[in-house]
Amino acid sequence: MLSRLLFTRSLAISVAAECTRTFLKNTTSSLIDAQTKGTYSGITALSDVTAYTEQFKQADIRVGILSKALKIDTSRSIHDPVLCTTFTEIIVTDKSHPYVIGTRMELDGSKITKIETLVTDQGDWAFNATGYAYFNSIEKWDPIPEAQRDTREVIQAAGDAYFNRFASINVTVPFGTPCARLEGGAYTGGRNLTANTCDLGLPSTTEVVERRYVIDDEMGVVNIYLGFPGLDRAVPDEAAPDSHTFRVEKGKIRYIHTLSTCEGHPGCGMNGTIPTR
Ligand SMILES: *[C@@H]1O[C@H](CO)[C@@H](O)[C@H](O)[C@H]1NC(C)=O
Ligand SMILES: *[C@@H]1O[C@H](CO)[C@@H](O)[C@H](O)[C@H]1NC(C)=O
Ligand SMILES: *[C@@H]1O[C@H](CO)[C@@H](O)[C@H](O)[C@H]1NC(C)=O
Ligand SMILES: *[C@@H]1O[C@H](CO)[C@@H](O)[C@H](O)[C@H]1NC(C)=O
Ligand SMILES: *[C@@H]1O[C@H](CO)[C@@H](O)[C@H](O)[C@H]1NC(C)=O
Repeated sequence: MLSRLLFTRSLAISVAAECTRTFLKNTTSSLIDAQTKGTYSGITALSDVTAYTEQFKQADIRVGILSKALKIDTSRSIHDPVLCTTFTEIIVTDKSHPYVIGTRMELDGSKITKIETLVTDQGDWAFNATGYAYFNSIEKWDPIPEAQRDTREVIQAAGDAYFNRFASINVTVPFGTPCARLEGGAYTGGRNLTANTCDLGLPSTTEVVERRYVIDDEMGVVNIYLGFPGLDRAVPDEAAPDSHTFRVEKGKIRYIHTLSTCEGHPGCGMNGTIPTR
């Protein structure tokens, strides 16, 4: 309860700060630029107080993924001027070392207070960057025309329902038809592009922890970072680092992109088999 109170208070401070879409977009563009060059120092609004993590563990930005110049195939950023947060998905199919990277930033209106990066590569959940790039390329994530936009509350509720369903069979998730989920390189939509293939079964006794949000109503997207107990079969009691990005159209989930790292347990203890959750 205490941590929730603290969280709410820090949120209130963020909301009060000046946090325009222009500023946030400048920050995510500079992140892409920095990752391409392999130099973190050009990131707009980086400061002495910026906390940095990889796979949810404190890390040194100077020697982390941003120190590597990567050939980025494609990326997508979303921006939340209310929570003052951003999320960027980066896909690198370079055969020398493919990656799919998620970077979440929290800002206070003038500087970045926290960067949380999830670096997935070989050995992470169902990892296949070529597959990620391919299935991403056949999807449509354009900005939603103004008259058709959902409210922030509706977009967030769709993502939350998905994870609430993990803990209770009685929760109804607003899956659209069609709907497809991309995890690593595993795509549920491949079976039938016009069907709802997101409703393929979910856990019903899993309480995910520490959800944190980026909500972009122009894009109809909510990204949720969280701890996912049981995802890593090798350490079922630990909450595995996880990111889910939901594209929501008219209140219904259209696409889900996940990023899940398996800390030192190749394939999250799945021995190379494609998992179902
Ligand atoms: C961000 O804004 C600064 C000025 O505030 C400008 O110098 C810089 O070029 C911008 N960067 C990007 C990537 O737009
Ligand atoms: C990765 O995905 C691509 C595109 O779907 C597919 O052709 C390839 O066989 C996959 N590789 C593995 C190792 O599954
Ligand atoms: C789900 O609903 C049924 C029927 O109302 C109830 O018996 C059960 O306790 C509910 N389960 C949960 C996890 O809320
Ligand atoms: C694909 O899904 C649609 C909508 O659910 C259904 O009408 C159609 O029969 C399915 N096609 C195949 C080949 O399963
Ligand atoms: C993976 O392999 C290990 C060692 O052979 C085994 O103990 C474990 O049960 C396997 N896990 C799964 C999910 O198949």
